[in-house]
Order: sequence, then structure tokens, then C-alpha cells
Amino acid sequence: MTAMTAGAERRRLPLVAANWKMNLLRAEAVAYCRTLRRGLAWPQVKVILFPSFPLLPAVAAELADTEVTVGGQDLHPDERGAHTGDVSAAQLVDAGCLWALCGHSERRRDHGESDELVARKAAAAARHGLLPLVCVGETREERMAERTFEVLARQLRAATGGRSDRLALAYEPVWAIGTGETATAETAEEVHRFLRATLAEALGERQAETTPILYGGSVTPDNAAGLIAERDVDGFLVGGASLDPRRFLDIIAVCA
Ligand code: PGA
Repeated sequence: MTAMTAGAERRRLPLVAANWKMNLLRAEAVAYCRTLRRGLAWPQVKVILFPSFPLLPAVAAELADTEVTVGGQDLHPDERGAHTGDVSAAQLVDAGCLWALCGHSERRRDHGESDELVARKAAAAARHGLLPLVCVGETREERMAERTFEVLARQLRAATGGRSDRLALAYEPVWAIGTGETATAETAEEVHRFLRATLAEALGERQAETTPILYGGSVTPDNAAGLIAERDVDGFLVGGASLDPRRFLDIIAVCA
């Protein structure tokens, strides 16, 4: 299927998100936003930026009169209090965010985040009107041991835990993040279809059909077309290739 055919049949608007991780200084972020706004020409593609916390106000201000939205890379599940170094949902909203990334595998790995904690973070985001973008994904060892679907179902069920609205998912196989190794379109589609079916069991058909499921893991302008052509791949969460606004724009163009 070509990307164009998929677009014509697409039930969900494509969504492309940049995960800048721990990169860019304020001047670089501002220059990036200016290049992005000059280059954006596809209103049918929703675009989100996830900058580091200190960059959020500057990025939100630069993009205030555009359709591009902004999100935090993490949040604490509590409302406020003695949590040195953490950021609350209300603070993200106050800094101009519409989204919160929850359960990225680098957080699960570096900070020992459990499925239960990720669920509490997603719930805290939703309570404050933020859209949680929940990341799930198996490690290479789990895939080799044929445990991919068991791991994903566990992560997804924990994160959705009874809540029934306002959620986006990112399938990010850990072995594909920052490695240059991307899931094939077939592998991604197989997993996305499974995630949508699991969502349907947990939250109902309607919710499953309207929830965007993004793919993440070494996405580039070159491999994006094959992936986005799949029915259940609704867009991308892009790390490395999103740090250059021109490459990020090329990925957005492929999804249009
Ligand atoms: P990558 O990162 O595109 O550099 O593989 C994706 C992510 O971690 O969100």
C-alpha cells in the first residue's frame, strides 16, 4: 500500500512528535522553532514537540500562534510537594504543555519506572487536561524469548487501567531506539494491530479506533514512508532525526 492510499483510508489524523530528550539549548530551540514554522505546510498532520523542561516556555511562546503543540518528557504523579527535581502536571500546563510523555523506556531504564508508576503518571496528566502519550515496547531479550505480546499487553493494561479517554500510545521497541535498527513495516503493523485489539478489550472498540498509535525507534525520512503506509501506524515519535528541523519536516511531509 502506498502512503497516499493509506492516507485516503486513514481514520485518524497523522501525528508526528519530536522527542528532543536531553538536547538543545534555548537559542538552538528558538532557531529550531523558527525553521519549523517556516517549513510547515501540512495542516492535516498534527505536530508535537517534547523539549526538556527548561526549554518549554520558550518553545511554547515561539509556537503560540501555530497548530504545533508542546509536551513535557515526564511528570510526577503527585499534585505538589517534596519531590526534588520533579515536575507536576499543573506545572507542565502552566509552561504551555498540552501533552505529557509517560513511560518512555529511557525513564523505565534510568529511573526504574514501573508499569504502576507510569499508570499513575498518565492518570495525573489526564486529571489536569494533558494528553498522555504512553510509551510501550519490548527489549531485544524479550523479543528473542517470544515474550513481545505478553510484555506489551502488561504495559498497556497497566497504563490504561480503567480510564477511558484521552490517550495516545507509542510503540517503541527498545532495541530500535537510537540504534539505527528500525522495526519493519510488517513487524510494526503486527504490534500496532495487537495494541489496538488490546485497547478495544480494555476500553472498547470506539476508543481503540480513535486512539493514535505512533511508532518510535530510529525513524528517519527514509524509512517513514513504508511505516506510515500501514493501517494501524498513525505517526511517529522521533528522537535522533527530530533534532534537525529539516529532517523532522521531511518526516512530517511523508505523513501528509
Ligand atoms: P530514536 O528515539 O528516534 O533516536 O530512535 C526515539 C525515542 O526514543 O523516542
